[in-house]
Amino acid sequence: MKHTVRAAALLAGCLFTLNLHAQKFDPPTLGWSSWNTFALNITEDVICRQADAMVSTGLARAGYKNINIDDGYWNGRDSNGQLRINTQKFPNGMRAVADYIHKLGLTAGIYSDAGDNTCGSGQKEPWGCGVGLAGYEEADCHTYFIDWDYDFIKVDFCGGNHMRLDERLQYTKISKAIAKTAKEKGKKITFNVCRWAYPGTWISDIADSWRTTGDIYDDWKSVKNIIKENLYIQAYTGGGHYNDMDMMEIGRSMNENEERTHMAYWCIASSPLLIGCDMTTLRQSSLDLLTNPHLLAMNQDKLGLGAPVVQREGEVYVVAKDMEKLQGKKRAVVVMNLSDEDKTITVDLSKLEFKGVVSVFDCFTQNRERAEESIRVFIPAHGSQAFLMEGNRTMRHLYEAEEAWLREYQEISGRPTAHPAETSQASKGAYVTSLGNSRLNYLEWKNVYVPYTGYYDVSIHYACADKRTLEISVNNKLESTLSSLTTGSDIDFNTVNVTLKLKKGMNTIRLNNPAAPAPNIDCINIR
Ligand code: GLA
Repeated sequence: MKHTVRAAALLAGCLFTLNLHAQKFDPPTLGWSSWNTFALNITEDVICRQADAMVSTGLARAGYKNINIDDGYWNGRDSNGQLRINTQKFPNGMRAVADYIHKLGLTAGIYSDAGDNTCGSGQKEPWGCGVGLAGYEEADCHTYFIDWDYDFIKVDFCGGNHMRLDERLQYTKISKAIAKTAKEKGKKITFNVCRWAYPGTWISDIADSWRTTGDIYDDWKSVKNIIKENLYIQAYTGGGHYNDMDMMEIGRSMNENEERTHMAYWCIASSPLLIGCDMTTLRQSSLDLLTNPHLLAMNQDKLGLGAPVVQREGEVYVVAKDMEKLQGKKRAVVVMNLSDEDKTITVDLSKLEFKGVVSVFDCFTQNRERAEESIRVFIPAHGSQAFLMEGNRTMRHLYEAEEAWLREYQEISGRPTAHPAETSQASKGAYVTSLGNSRLNYLEWKNVYVPYTGYYDVSIHYACADKRTLEISVNNKLESTLSSLTTGSDIDFNTVNVTLKLKKGMNTIRLNNPAAPAPNIDCINIR
């Protein structure tokens, strides 16, 4: 596998020079974190044995690298404000643990809070009160990354909440302290934000990855909820910055079908993959899943994209993304059955933008077959099938609003910014509401591909009870203003047509109404 990864990296390097759309950035973090299994019961021995296991199991060879220490290693601060370590748990200090990890060829991750106290301290235990980064941003970064030599940090927000900090200001301050220390160290430091909800598009400017939901736990219901909460925020993963769906629960109590869905969706959505089980007792089926090279290739793909829903039947979702090259021949496809019953569905290859004969590689059975028009897929309850497909592409016609990039989207404040909502009346069951009323509260499809420069008919599916205006911009230029749009209801969708000039290759199409609320948008169709 090591060789495969190297070969892929070499190949990626060659393609990089050929492919103008591909950029060079770090793929999602692959590693392990202490919290899910050990919670506050961490010690030097626990961490070092896990690092050993990452190597001896072959996980390291498959690409997993980070050994992340989560909450629970401090013992307050001394009178100079210097962090004190719990020496019963870590008798040789934190630097010794990082050194041990590094000697194994791995990288080391540490944990803190944006505010004063850690989550695990319950805001009252002296060991974890006042150990957060607030007021110590630069000093603690120096301790973590220079004195102790860690390479990764997860920054939680329990203390931030306690101090009522503004997340954007505080995480930006921390990112500057990290960047300053990284410069001094001459090495990249990976910054993971843990704010338990999508923070807003500003997060891509300051962090490598960010948690999008509350804490995962070792149960199918939790995994299913996290998947559902991530379905319509795939546009915010990109450019080397990733939605983090939380540390994984593979290798604990879920069954094989559930573990497959967990792994397949985390992989196709380009989430960091942080193993959360005890790697010293990992069963073979979970190890095989975690090291499945085809799923890891999806996750580490150099485009680093999220994977929007392309087909939906009840609780069966088909999600897909381009691999290696935007609008190229290769796509990753996962068919997930989140329902409690076995299902068989027909996956429409034209919805996956393929035409003619398609090579379909099954990531679990390793079977390859050729298909045309559609494939029948059996998916057991809670299970998934994962495919790498290759074939000639068609121009994409349908762009769903719920997969677009919403400039002001966030899940933290109650501000009524544009957001996806579900109704069976909308195409694929979802649309975008609360658009407009501000210059920035817009919706944008960033990669609208057309084969030739020219005029295209674009039909817009919209709904609004009252009369509303919609402005359409192409490549940042206002092209059309439609006024007095109404369908008499906020979820009865209707179509309005415009002609837009698009240039060969990738375009952006933006919808907004800066002066007042815009109509709800379901999707657009380009012909
Ligand atoms: C929060 C985080 C978890 C974990 C704990 C530690 O709940 O979301 O991932 O880090 O804190 O206390």
